[in-house]
Amino acid sequence: MISKTPAEIVLIKKACQLTRDALIYAKTLIKPGVSTYDLDKSIEKFIIESGGSPACLGYEGFPAATCISVNDMVVHGIPRKDIVLKEGDIVSVDLVVAYKGYHGDAARTYPVGKVSPEKEKLMRVTKECFFKGIENLRIGDRLGKLSNAIQTHAESNGFSVVRELSGHGIGKKMHEPPSVLNYGKPTDGPIITENAVLAIEPMINAGKKEIGMLRDGWGIVTRDEKPSAHYENTVLFTRQGLEILTLEKDDEFANR
Ligand code: MF3
Ligand code: CO
Repeated sequence: MISKTPAEIVLIKKACQLTRDALIYAKTLIKPGVSTYDLDKSIEKFIIESGGSPACLGYEGFPAATCISVNDMVVHGIPRKDIVLKEGDIVSVDLVVAYKGYHGDAARTYPVGKVSPEKEKLMRVTKECFFKGIENLRIGDRLGKLSNAIQTHAESNGFSVVRELSGHGIGKKMHEPPSVLNYGKPTDGPIITENAVLAIEPMINAGKKEIGMLRDGWGIVTRDEKPSAHYENTVLFTRQGLEILTLEKDDEFANR
């Protein structure tokens, strides 16, 4: 695992604050009638005006500043003018902000107006998966402890874990080793080291775990067309404990 220097951590923290702020802004835009293209353009402008740069734009050819994935789209949705939010949808916004060469990565799944009880539960459990995963997680632990806790919480609620995609280390690059799996045995995976920075991102399906890819080469969808949710934060591990760098200050899980 890559350990960051104190100077690097300062820059990563700033990138993560810009990431968090862009998601807080994104939430205010979510309403019926808005296209995912419009959302993306507004968020892109916000990121640039706040002093960051949208790192997804151009990453391996990705054509937008954000990934926006509605309902049965798991992740990596390309924003489109013809995908228009409607009451009852759930929409995940995933974005990476770069600041002075360092990155922050986070995602939230938001409801559009009132959504079904199943979608409510899916969003809640996906977020809980993140927090169950990091519970009592510390330097010296195997990453499998996190992976296993995420899988256990998802499956005990009748949901499934996407296997083909995972979290990742983050820093100078958006994606660094190790892969942060959302499933597996507690005794597997690398040992967490001091000043490691990881993007932890459960992707949880309401139905079966199988996924497919859209013809656009990016969008990941559930095979059974049931909804999927995504919740992600960038996290720093120190000797004092773990710091969630992209968490909203007023989040129900903050300061617990
Ligand atoms: N946050 C996403 C991830 O970690 C990044 C999406 S890929 C991109 O996988 F091309 F959009 F950048
Ligand atoms: Co990520």
